[in-house]
Amino acid sequence: MEPMTIDRIHRPTEEEFRTKYLNLGKPVLITGVNEDLPQFKWNFDFLSKELGTSKINVYDWGETGPTIQDDFLIKKMELAKALALCCEVDKTENQRFSICQLALDFLPELYDSYMTPEFLKNSDKLDNLSWFFKERRRIAMFISFFRGMHWHNGRHAIAQQVTGSKRFVLYDPKDTPYLYPKTFLESPLSWFDERESVFCSQMPFEDGIENIDHDKFPMFKKAVPYEIELKAGEILFIPSHWWHYTHACEPCVLITEFWDASLKDWGFPIAYRSLFMKPYRKFLYSKVVKLKKFNRKEVNQDVS
Ligand SMILES: [Fe+2]
Repeated sequence: MEPMTIDRIHRPTEEEFRTKYLNLGKPVLITGVNEDLPQFKWNFDFLSKELGTSKINVYDWGETGPTIQDDFLIKKMELAKALALCCEVDKTENQRFSICQLALDFLPELYDSYMTPEFLKNSDKLDNLSWFFKERRRIAMFISFFRGMHWHNGRHAIAQQVTGSKRFVLYDPKDTPYLYPKTFLESPLSWFDERESVFCSQMPFEDGIENIDHDKFPMFKKAVPYEIELKAGEILFIPSHWWHYTHACEPCVLITEFWDASLKDWGFPIAYRSLFMKPYRKFLYSKVVKLKKFNRKEVNQDVS
């Protein structure tokens, strides 16, 4: 299928963003608000100088680099060291280490200075999600070349490109049957781990979206891609339940804010899983998942 274009809007008001995009569950690229937001200053130099000695979690993908199998270990590393390694990477295969959805809770200086853009300022109040679905806003940093096709559970996201550029390919939730979602048993952590509440495709994307095996995944050609190259200073709104695949064009810093979607924006028909599982997952996380054994292959090992 030929890629669809994504609208671009400049400095939207909250009303424009909500009525034309958020409430319709429609992706959009937003320009012109980066000057107002401190997070757009968090380039590699700033992060290394200001927070270089902070210990963070990094994904260690081993010799092969990232794959759709999510076969990685989480290790501790100083931020400056991790950034230096990330800047040496020029393709997915040599991405041994990446900073992937690093919650800014680990870097309180950044968390405290982060600002939600004006066009989202009142979304928590306006969407008024019932308490048993509600989860806290989450801000995460990504310095990673590759992220396979996935969607988030009842959460909208804005991807804020601080430096460099990144290719995003999105698919409407209605194309889910063509994207070969993993089954329940293939992705158990997605259902129970608050930090990893993403649902992935079975299709391997490591070699790029152009190299999907159409004999093995014949329905993929029916899916309609929405494609964009996000550049420094720009923001991409990814509606709840929209599938997305990302591939960096160069080493880059991306800051993403996730927040609860109102139930009407949950992107049916696939939202039925979320309706059942989100409160259950939230409960499990608060009561059970904090036990170490549920954590993703986290090893207590520093990389120096
Ligand atoms: Fe995502």
